Amino acid sequence: MVMVEELSLAELRQRTSAKWRTYPPDVLPLPVAEMDFPLAGPVAEALHAAIGRSDLGYARPSPELAEALAGFAARRWGWQVDPAQVTLAPEVGVAVVEVLRLLVGPGDPVVINPPVYDSFFPWLAEVGGRLVEVPLGQTGDGWALDLDAMQAAFQDGARVHLLCSPHNPTGTVHQRQDLERLAALAARYGVTVLADEIFAPLVLAGRTHHPFVSVSPEAAGHGIVFTSASKAWNLAGLKCAAVVTAAAAARRLLRRLPEELRWRVGHLGVLASIAAFQDGGRWLEEVLGVLDHHRRYLAELLAARLPAVRYRPPEAGYLAWLDCTALGLGDDPSAVFLARGRVALSPGPSFGRPGVGHVRLNMGTSRQILAAAVARMASAIDDAPTSGPAGKRPTRP
Ligand SMILES: Cc1ncc(COP(=O)(O)O)c(C=O)c1O
Repeated sequence: MVMVEELSLAELRQRTSAKWRTYPPDVLPLPVAEMDFPLAGPVAEALHAAIGRSDLGYARPSPELAEALAGFAARRWGWQVDPAQVTLAPEVGVAVVEVLRLLVGPGDPVVINPPVYDSFFPWLAEVGGRLVEVPLGQTGDGWALDLDAMQAAFQDGARVHLLCSPHNPTGTVHQRQDLERLAALAARYGVTVLADEIFAPLVLAGRTHHPFVSVSPEAAGHGIVFTSASKAWNLAGLKCAAVVTAAAAARRLLRRLPEELRWRVGHLGVLASIAAFQDGGRWLEEVLGVLDHHRRYLAELLAARLPAVRYRPPEAGYLAWLDCTALGLGDDPSAVFLARGRVALSPGPSFGRPGVGHVRLNMGTSRQILAAAVARMASAIDDAPTSGPAGKRPTRP
């Protein structure tokens, strides 16, 4: 049975979320990180049932959600989560910021690995932390943490590392041995690793996700995992995420989070997340199959229409990181694609300095829209001067 139908552009344009209402109707929007597929059946049923009961009150710290997440983690990654070590939060962003507030004073260094999810920059600014950029290293066929440079940053005094695992925007799934080495460094220098694992359920065929706190005793002692059903099942507007710890000290730290946090979690988000983690597995498998196809299809489209663009298919998620430097479109090619091709992509420079000359394209859509997006990019090049006029800029990828 096909559960993940491809919706037409006309159907998608009826959506009212930011992705579909930020741009004028002639723009094809592919920046915001959400997918264009219909909701998973079990999630839709849980939401309809809640509305049928007029059950739209405040959320409570739901043991059912902690159990559902623990069950999913055990089935998918062999990770034994203690439900008592699960703390709910309204979103990964809020949770990371609140935990950073506990760990970071004004000007304290925090390590990130650009190109990296662009909201990491404002999250750190919100708590007054000082960015220490340790760019991802280029390997022959992808990217990896530069652990020697990480060690140098820890030696220089950084005590917090905000890890993106899997990594947005490159779609890198970190290797287990790299995470083990990172954990050993964290233990040696007394660093807390905040592991944003929101894309973990979306690891594609051929790679395995290793939840950070599960890779070694040092990782359990020094890591905190942030996760959510929101990326994999498209629930971002429902405001529900989870923070998972694996050691008593981390648990004690989280007890210092503001009491008010629990009241800011969305009740519908809790109900939808339980359904997703418990019963959304078949739908997820189908989405992973579609994305596996799309990452290869995008390579074909680019080879045919934009062969100068460098693209390494992601190992996880639905985001494609495109190196457009050879097109000569300046620091931010997304401005040219938007102005001339009427296709909105995320601007590479917003992911940090290594993002100059790059764009991020969202493949979590239909085959037709993917092909149309590349055609629009190609048409922008056909008649583009080397630096096109700036168009309307995306606000949040
Ligand atoms: C790596 C990463 N973390 C967190 C988020 C945001 O999650 P939330 O809406 O739960 O704050 C995103 C959204 O795209 C993301 O890519």
